[in-house]
Amino acid sequence: VEKTKVKDFLHINDFDRDTIKKILNRAIEVKELIKSGDKTFQPFKGKTLAMVFAKPSLRTHVSFETGFSLLGGHAVYLAPEDIQMGSREETRDVARILSRFTDIVMARVFTHEDILTLSKYATVPVVNGLTDYNHPCQIMADAITVIEHLSRIEGTKIAYVGDGNNVVHSWLELASLFPIHFTCATPKGFEPDAKTVEKARQAGISKIVITNDPKEAVKGADIVYTDVWASMGQKEEAQKRRLMFKGFQVDQSLMDLAGSNALFMHCLPAEKGVEVTEEVIEGPKSIIFAQAENRLHAQNAIMLHVLGE
Ligand code: CP
Ligand code: NVA
Repeated sequence: VEKTKVKDFLHINDFDRDTIKKILNRAIEVKELIKSGDKTFQPFKGKTLAMVFAKPSLRTHVSFETGFSLLGGHAVYLAPEDIQMGSREETRDVARILSRFTDIVMARVFTHEDILTLSKYATVPVVNGLTDYNHPCQIMADAITVIEHLSRIEGTKIAYVGDGNNVVHSWLELASLFPIHFTCATPKGFEPDAKTVEKARQAGISKIVITNDPKEAVKGADIVYTDVWASMGQKEEAQKRRLMFKGFQVDQSLMDLAGSNALFMHCLPAEKGVEVTEEVIEGPKSIIFAQAENRLHAQNAIMLHVLGE
């Protein structure tokens, strides 16, 4: 008998603001519990998580696996060459097979269509662990990190400088629920997806500025955020992009323009000396490791939510 699926976690703005707020608060609560050494909260006991990876990972792999097991569950890692989704096995069959064995599926895929197909055919919840289009778990963790450092997300100015990629699209998803000032500075031709920008603007919640001027973008920012210039799947363009992204490196002079209180964030992995200088990423304003740690806590709360716990 197939179970009826509770929910998936594919895009932050599939949910309303109260639900996302609830998940963020839960993440902070469960984080405190875990940090206190309490091992009695075992909501995932007897449950199995399948982790499907079509791309490499450090944070996503380890944080999902350790998070799920800290709360009592068992996680199975499936490397790109194991499943060979789309060649050895059809994506929809992967979804139907994993649903017979496991209680929840996390997947990191190339095309966004693949996560939608997994979601369509799986009868268990599907959590998006990054696609070429978005990275919702990352921005949930980032929101927690902003709340921990600035005591709120509402009204903060987040300035993203670099490639208008999957990370930017999930910031736009968040900006359509929580009132922030989100500016994104990219070289011409590397802006985020126009439809996604339009949809976030139409939500009418946040101030959203897309520009080609990094200096203008960071003025008054609470957070200066960057990511690699060539994402997974674009690595052969890395050299070309280095030339095209000239002027978009986050260096100390850009941080100085943001102001003395501005913090630096990066979802990692980083190419130090490319999109950000060693001085900034290793400097006192960088909160990259607190940010990375929050992946675990954000995802625990996301999994609790989609499993109805
Ligand atoms: N930030 C992030 O998703 O890292 P990994 O690619 O190492 O999982
Ligand atoms: N934009 C990057 C994020 C990595 C976590 C990529 O997709 O490779």
